[in-house]
Amino acid sequence: MAKRVKFKLNGREIEAEEGRLVIDAAKDVGVEIPHYCYHPALGNPGNCRMCVVEVAGAPKPQISCRTAVREGLDVQSDSAAAKRAQASALELHLVNHPLDCPVCDQSGECGLQDYYMKIGQYQSQVRENKQHKDKRVEAGPHVMLDQERCILCTRCTRFVENVTKTYELGVFRRGHAERVELTPGKVLDNDYSGNVVDICPVGALTDRDFRYKVRVWYLDKTDSVCPGCSRGCAVSVHTNTKRPWHNDGKRVARLKPRYNPEINGHWMCDEGRYGFGSLDRDRLGRVLRLAPREEELSWDAACAAIASELRGGAVAFVASGMLSNEDWSAAKTLFAGAKFYFTPEPDQIGAEDALLKRKEKVPNLKAAEALGLKSGSFDELAADLDAGRVRVLYVVERDLGRIWGEERAKTLVSRAACGVFQGPNACAVSEAFRYRLPATAYVEESGRFTNFEGKVSKYEKALEPIGSAKPDWEIFDAIRAALETSGKGAAA
Ligand code: SF4
Ligand code: SF4
Ligand code: FES
Repeated sequence: MAKRVKFKLNGREIEAEEGRLVIDAAKDVGVEIPHYCYHPALGNPGNCRMCVVEVAGAPKPQISCRTAVREGLDVQSDSAAAKRAQASALELHLVNHPLDCPVCDQSGECGLQDYYMKIGQYQSQVRENKQHKDKRVEAGPHVMLDQERCILCTRCTRFVENVTKTYELGVFRRGHAERVELTPGKVLDNDYSGNVVDICPVGALTDRDFRYKVRVWYLDKTDSVCPGCSRGCAVSVHTNTKRPWHNDGKRVARLKPRYNPEINGHWMCDEGRYGFGSLDRDRLGRVLRLAPREEELSWDAACAAIASELRGGAVAFVASGMLSNEDWSAAKTLFAGAKFYFTPEPDQIGAEDALLKRKEKVPNLKAAEALGLKSGSFDELAADLDAGRVRVLYVVERDLGRIWGEERAKTLVSRAACGVFQGPNACAVSEAFRYRLPATAYVEESGRFTNFEGKVSKYEKALEPIGSAKPDWEIFDAIRAALETSGKGAAA
């Protein structure tokens, strides 16, 4: 274990590990030293000079991202001299900056704006004309580059060199003409490209999916977990409910990675980041009996009717790996004795890599495994349906059309005496069921996912449910209560 030493920060005695960077030790005790180029996962090239501090005994200000804590060190990050040095560094970064905050998508979360308000040298000494560079460069499918706003901190180039090792970006040319550019012949289209937008401290790299949709100060942020694969990256869901006429009416505006050293570090993949587009599409909000004719039911009436169907046994339950730990556990109780079928099946898995992406493109099959549940094969289920061996087909999964083909899936569903479809969104096959129950999407409920390594993460409710939708576990519990009321116990 590293030795703990005492040092002084702004006159206050602090204890920290010997050798820890002053900028990190300060952050540990709630003191943020301005910085651009330093990023804990990308190193400290020391090129932005924003983190300058006064160190007792040193002839000149030192950069705190390269000064190590040692016994007796005496650092001032907010003295007049330190602030003067920080303001000079900031002035240098703004020499050629276009100052186009009113039309910049980074406005409201920009390191230049924030530090300018805090320590800016409000009377500029610069009289020369600004250097012009390229604006609106489509760096890749997800990222737009504005070279004029870039402060050459090199975080983005270090990301593509050290994290993805794909080298799409570099710093080219010399002196005033120096700029971040695409490496000749390359496009910024690696599977993690959106992360460069997060780490760019200014508005030089912006997200093409999010640009100009809604101003960031209208967004609410909620801790969540990405459901895109079984890694279960920690994310923050940014929702737009204050300006519903912005962002094309979509309530989720963007996902951002949330630091979790145990699971995803600072990053997330593009597949997960941009995978929320269908959340509000074809939403189910009403409890319906669709056959013999369409009618809306109360939750009580629907649960009682479904409970009476379950009493007859011969139940097949098709579950998706999107279910939460709470949902799986309620399903295990309700469907005790039923046959379970999980999706995705092993032959429907996707691509994975050595960084984060996992082949199971759902977050939570692990919870089913932990509960001792096992999946039957969909071929076997199709044969049972065809032969009339399934009385109740209860489906919490949108993919039956993909598994069996749309028409065949509809035919197979119609073979069961009673079909129940439950989920947040309608699908090509959901019209073929007798009952259709609206469930909440993961952003409309709180719950937990267990990732492929068995690590449990909690996600929080970010939005109100659509219509009368309820979490899956609540629906399962309500049907179980209806079964128990009739004194017959759970379905078998
Ligand atoms: S584009 Fe952004 S992250 Fe990249 S060097 Fe410029 S300021 Fe830094
Ligand atoms: S690696 Fe998986 S969990 Fe992480 S962001 Fe990508 S899809 Fe989501
Ligand atoms: S953060 Fe220290 S020099 Fe850039």
